[in-house]
Amino acid sequence: MEKLKILISREQIAAKVSELGSRITIDFAGEAVVLIGVLKGATIFLADLARQIHLNVSFDFIAVSSYGDAKHQSGEVKLMKDVDHSMEGKNIILVEDILDTGLTLTYIKNIMAAHQPKSLKIAALLDKVSRRTEPIQADYVGFEIPDEFVVGYGLDFAEKYRNLPDVCVLESDSGTR
Ligand code: IMP
Ligand code: MG
Repeated sequence: MEKLKILISREQIAAKVSELGSRITIDFAGEAVVLIGVLKGATIFLADLARQIHLNVSFDFIAVSSYGDAKHQSGEVKLMKDVDHSMEGKNIILVEDILDTGLTLTYIKNIMAAHQPKSLKIAALLDKVSRRTEPIQADYVGFEIPDEFVVGYGLDFAEKYRNLPDVCVLESDSGTR
């Protein structure tokens, strides 16, 4: 059996996403930005964030797979889907659900840097700072969270729970991870 406990409510998320959108709107005033969502976890965050950015915004998506089971990653990342358009000279904001070890975003950031964008920033809804193994940080962070496995608002456990409106901690009855 799995139990869910709300960690960040939909109201807290909405307020934070609005704040991040305002910051991005100010930081890129007068410019166009491309939001690049990391499939699939970032889709809900991207959809909400995009509507809080009052600029010329376009979307693109990238997909990676990380080897490992549902809760643990092996550290190997593989590109499954690249962006559809050239990012040369563009203001890119990589949009991700969560920064954990940092392996995924380090890998994606390197791929995107090779496109020679005008600027390259990272927006992460959640940040598990204590889990980081790579020297990477997000420019726009929603919430720093403790080292607990979370689901909802795009985040899954074995593809389940992405549609929960709140970010919840997933606890298994056995208490193991
Ligand atoms: P990283 O490469 O270790 O930074 O891991 C980032 C990826 O791991 C995210 O894009 C998520 O797909 C996944 N992930 C890390 N922590 C969680 C979690 O608590 N819940 C759901 N997915 C997670
Ligand atoms: Mg993900």
